[in-house]
Amino acid sequence: MGKRRLYIQTFGCQMNVHDSEKIMALMGSSGYVTTDDLVEADLIIVNTCSIREKAKQKIYSELGRFRKLKEQRPDIIIGVGGCLAQQKGSEFLRKYPFLDLVFGTHNIHRIPEYVKNIEISRAAVISTDFQESVESLNVVAVPQNGKISAYVTIMQGCNNFCSFCVVPYLRGREESRALTDIIKEVNILADHGVKEVILLGQNVNSYGKSPGNGHDFPELLQEIGKIDDIERIRFTTSHPKDLSERLMTSFKTVDKLCEHIHLPVQSGSDRILGMMNRCYTSADYLDKVKSLRSICPDISITSDFIVGFPGEEDWDFQATLDLMKIIKFDGAFSFKYSERVGTAAIDIKKKIPECVKRERLQVLQSLQGKHTLERHALLIGNIEEILVEGFSKKCRDDMIGRTRTNRIVNFRGESELIGKTVSVVITDAYQHSLRGILL
Ligand code: 5AD
Ligand code: SF4
Repeated sequence: MGKRRLYIQTFGCQMNVHDSEKIMALMGSSGYVTTDDLVEADLIIVNTCSIREKAKQKIYSELGRFRKLKEQRPDIIIGVGGCLAQQKGSEFLRKYPFLDLVFGTHNIHRIPEYVKNIEISRAAVISTDFQESVESLNVVAVPQNGKISAYVTIMQGCNNFCSFCVVPYLRGREESRALTDIIKEVNILADHGVKEVILLGQNVNSYGKSPGNGHDFPELLQEIGKIDDIERIRFTTSHPKDLSERLMTSFKTVDKLCEHIHLPVQSGSDRILGMMNRCYTSADYLDKVKSLRSICPDISITSDFIVGFPGEEDWDFQATLDLMKIIKFDGAFSFKYSERVGTAAIDIKKKIPECVKRERLQVLQSLQGKHTLERHALLIGNIEEILVEGFSKKCRDDMIGRTRTNRIVNFRGESELIGKTVSVVITDAYQHSLRGILL
């Protein structure tokens, strides 16, 4: 039998993107190759997200497309995983009886075994139990096609229970990987030509804390910093309440740690932050930003915002805009509040009409757009250290890379620069990228 083909579709965050990479690696060891062409697939995996309603609707419409395919080719195996699969479990199989596999966020490592069983028995499998162990996190996905940047999961789950968020219900309690396992993985990645690692967790700042494993996040950063061929370390995401002085100091003490932090604030109103159960005030947040900037003046700070949280009045929204004007974030993701079943915020009475949410989102995004451009323009004339990632998709004569502060830079260059760190003088600033000249 020739190689079988896996088509994988991913929705949602970096965590899901990385889970899909792990699935590809696992299925690769079971004789599957990945394909971008749905028509030639023997196995289809849909890795789902449930963080907001919009993602959910898109996934449902995709599944409708796969129903038709299964009618034409009943031998094809179709599996659904990720947060929405975790949430829906057997309900998914009732609603979409053509599915062969529904697997949750803790069971990725078992997919090859499930697929093998389905190939033999054609009986559907549902696997959404939470596991105490972190076995699925220890699956190593070596990047394909000479990619120089790789994700490394350092922990799973979340104990914070922000009142709007489904993640703690769908990814379980916080559990950190052993430091030695992480170091082993980073060494394997370095041996395969990886130059940059992006450490992933819902709240990396509490790495090693609950349950305690004798290490903390700054220590992990220091240990990874000792691995020779790794040139850059990034991480995401950080909860402001857990951003310690020790971690902030790591930006000074760990040379390879890049000067960028994604620090979701969500709102600038203390009343809304309280209702969100975020455990900090806008003044606390401002203090942390001040400390970060005094320790590391060039640091780029990005954030997440939610507009239209239940009960958000005009003056609460104004407080968010005021905070933005003080901080001037380098970039931000912003979302309309999306009600999630099972979360605490569902019980807050005063819902915000869709048109108000839409308007607030527009105002916020246009202010952020202005700030991003302003912050980018400050870099014109600077000589930046760029780790070259590959060719630009828009123009084959251009190379693309990132500054240490995570800004995308396009410049004229040759393919042999891929994987190298070069100096580029910044000449132009745009909303989503910079342009420069190779020195
Ligand atoms: N509605 C809107 N945005 C949400 N986020 C998480 N849950 C919701 C929700 N129910 C946003 C937060 C978080 C980011 C990953 O997604 O801003 O930081
Ligand atoms: Fe969700 Fe809050 Fe945990 Fe982030 S910290 S995953 S927003 S509960």
